[in-house]
Amino acid sequence: MGRFNSLQSEISWDHAMVERPISGEMTWQVPSNLALVKYWGKVGHQLPGNPSLSLTLRQSVTVLEAHFSFDPQTHQDLASLWTFQFSSDENNSMSFGGKIFQHLEIMSKYYSFLRKTKLILKSHNTFPHSAGIASSASASLSIALLVEGLATLIRGEDLNSAMNDQMFLRRASFLARLGSGSASRSVFPIGALWGACPLSKTSSDEWGVGVEDELPYLRTVEDMILIVDQRKKRISSREGHELMDTHPYRKERYARAGERLNLLWQAIKSGKGTDDFHRIGVLIEAEALDLHSLMMSSTPPVVLMCPDTLAIILALWEWRMDSKAPVYFTLDAGPNIHLLYPKSTAAAMVEFKKILKEKNLLPQQIIEDGAGQGPQLLLFKIKQ
Ligand code: DP6
Repeated sequence: MGRFNSLQSEISWDHAMVERPISGEMTWQVPSNLALVKYWGKVGHQLPGNPSLSLTLRQSVTVLEAHFSFDPQTHQDLASLWTFQFSSDENNSMSFGGKIFQHLEIMSKYYSFLRKTKLILKSHNTFPHSAGIASSASASLSIALLVEGLATLIRGEDLNSAMNDQMFLRRASFLARLGSGSASRSVFPIGALWGACPLSKTSSDEWGVGVEDELPYLRTVEDMILIVDQRKKRISSREGHELMDTHPYRKERYARAGERLNLLWQAIKSGKGTDDFHRIGVLIEAEALDLHSLMMSSTPPVVLMCPDTLAIILALWEWRMDSKAPVYFTLDAGPNIHLLYPKSTAAAMVEFKKILKEKNLLPQQIIEDGAGQGPQLLLFKIKQ
């Protein structure tokens, strides 16, 4: 499938602002997401080389607490306006804070009120960051939702009703993408598609769209995340994407990802019972191995699997051959394994964990995740 240019409806960035100061608190809980067809390689600024499809997660979330104070008269510089703390962790607060302030600055090109808004931000994750679960997805979207939420207030609109508006979600997805591409997909319950393609008329390279209505079978998907290695990734995904700029298989990859997306979309769309998961699973595994093959054939080459990753994959294949259980793996840009299966297969997972234990391959940390309902506004208060 070649690149497809949809007729994109424009996003309007309304700059009309109330002239009075507003302050208060806002807390967002935002999930990460797991790509089934991966975004790997960029075109231009934060645009994807190919469209990607994801499962919105339920358990792996970022919680962002913000105290905000907008004052149209302020002339404070940005360094003194914005502060960020991550999980009471000094080192990561510094490095994540840098990325967050950069993201806020980019967003201030669309929403100039940010330059007049004091922000005290605190954030934590329910899962290990930088280990191949897309922590940048939930983190970047949490900041984008905060900003889109503030824009709603500053326009003088009601946040609770605006939140369900398609334009609110689209703008949040667009803003999130500017911080991290995969974040554009975490906006929607159950699953999302990001990248212009004929599968959805509203799809775009600039924002994600929800796919729950088209692919309801995704609601049944569970994700058991095996944290094989908690350490920080050897390369950031940003550096990984850059490897695709000069990759010898770049053109072939984008064509193949498009074809796989079509096949997977059809397989999920026609999925009904537990057995249908086998057709879906083989495509998901092939995609994960493509991602890691691309890394291994990059210049310089990158290996992100560790020996246990491979050993668990082989154990899964052996067990699946005997048990016929519909359990398949995928990987992100890291060594940790996501075991995907339909809810009805949960009992078989107990058996597989037993096998991993016997083989001394059961990791210390396992996250029982699965399809989730998308971001939630946990708290919202305006100071009178
Ligand atoms: C392998 O979205 O983290 O997880 O846009 O540079 O922040 P940036 O990259 P990021 O890349 C995600 C890569 C991936 C696949 C995916 O989630 O689609």
